Amino acid sequence: MFISLEGIDGSGKTTQAKRLAEALGEGTPLVREPGGTVAGERIRELLKDPELQLDPLAELLLFCAARAQLVDEVIRPRREAGEDVVCDRFSDSSVAYQGFARGLGVERVEHLCDLATGGLWPDLTLLLRLHPEVAAERIAAEGRAADRFEGEGMELQRLVAEGYEEIASRHPRRIRVIDASADPDSVHAAVLADVGGVRA
Ligand code: TMP
Repeated sequence: MFISLEGIDGSGKTTQAKRLAEALGEGTPLVREPGGTVAGERIRELLKDPELQLDPLAELLLFCAARAQLVDEVIRPRREAGEDVVCDRFSDSSVAYQGFARGLGVERVEHLCDLATGGLWPDLTLLLRLHPEVAAERIAAEGRAADRFEGEGMELQRLVAEGYEEIASRHPRRIRVIDASADPDSVHAAVLADVGGVRA
């Protein structure tokens, strides 16, 4: 099964993606977006660089380029071999950040993602829902430097959160919403319950 985790910055999805991959068994591939391939990690550096100004469409196309590479190198081969793959973000991030928050259009971005991935969407997407103010407090507590997206502040995160709600209502069968304000163990239990429910 191909499972993606989604959420605003600071929602805890990276921790949960790791824990899920471990729970699914040793050797379960865990990849992140943008990234997960040599080319994709280089594109990631570019996209997260706070020094860089990017036109929204250029930004979207870079995310899609990294994604096309990841699908070709990792996700499609693993899926065809019948293995699980856990992905920290996938096309829904482009729809929420570039389509909704940056205003490029939800449907337009979905179509572009289809082009980049050959129409591949996760079998299950877990959306970690967290209030943007709480997420910002978590990021501040980590004490690290903000990347290009986090550096844009609360307004972007509010729009992204709104975008995710719209996406979840567009795809209720694929996307499960999880309350990410609980402690990590409870969130992990909710993640496993959803994965188990879809497998059954
Ligand atoms: P992260 O790996 O720390 O979540 O950083 C990735 C950043 O890139 C995050 O702020 C979300 C953003 N992003 C997009 O804007 N569009 C996308 O398609 C993806 C995958 C990520």
